[in-house]
Amino acid sequence: MKRIDILLTQSLIQDDLVLKDKNVIILDVLRATTTMTIALANGAKEIIPTENIATAVRVAKGSKNSMLCGERNGKIVDGFNLGNSPGEYTPEVVKDKALIFSTTNGTLAIIKSKFAKNCVLCSFVNISAIVDYVNSINEDFTIICSGKLNDFCLEDAVCAGMLLSRLSAGRTLEMRDSEIAAINLCNDLAMLLNVPSKEKILRLFHMSEHGKYLTSIGFEKDLEISAEIDSYPFIPVFQSGVVKFKEQFEGESTQKSKMKRVNIGIKREDGKKEKISES
Ligand code: MLT
Repeated sequence: MKRIDILLTQSLIQDDLVLKDKNVIILDVLRATTTMTIALANGAKEIIPTENIATAVRVAKGSKNSMLCGERNGKIVDGFNLGNSPGEYTPEVVKDKALIFSTTNGTLAIIKSKFAKNCVLCSFVNISAIVDYVNSINEDFTIICSGKLNDFCLEDAVCAGMLLSRLSAGRTLEMRDSEIAAINLCNDLAMLLNVPSKEKILRLFHMSEHGKYLTSIGFEKDLEISAEIDSYPFIPVFQSGVVKFKEQFEGESTQKSKMKRVNIGIKREDGKKEKISES
């Protein structure tokens, strides 16, 4: 791993092919990537990010056991089942459900990564799990800050700086201004005596544009939940259009290869000497 680039807003990605075969980390601390991690941890079957409300409604029509989720201007979309507040995604509500999401920034950044080699979702609630994941891959990564309406947002940049600072420990990584700026913002606004501080992160949220806005429309509790460092140590992976935990995808591919072997076995058993086609 030689470099980890930070894109401080997703508007820097004008063509999704820019991320083709790249390793990508998506950040939308307030609130999309935080909420999606908590929803999966509370038993949601999968998350389907969509680029807009119309697509979400269309996808929901075609899927069983699904819920429409998301926000505009921070509030639940008319006709949707859930907004984007992590507190709404309890086990009773989301267990085994497919959650079809459309949010202002987060889902757009995720969809832009559809051609990526690896794509994971990060926020403060799972940052250490993502650091371990990136270290296990040990290749170059691109961190994408979802931002706010294609503009810079403080909370994503600080989280990106914390990720980079942890990953550059014991390594010499090439750094551009974006990376240097993010690390300094993190040291100033989120670290206390070189340790991530929930209190400082909460103060950062109350200082940030979106944090102030969410508080003004009654979602102050979401700031508390989103500042709980490593409270959900899981790795949400975006692959083939859906977000699931890494283990869920691994479990499915093991299941698939098991079934493959069984089918081959069955075919052999009926003793027909025909060319076995890979099912
Ligand atoms: C987003 O994806 O745009 C944000 O998460 C919006 C929000 O939750 O307020």
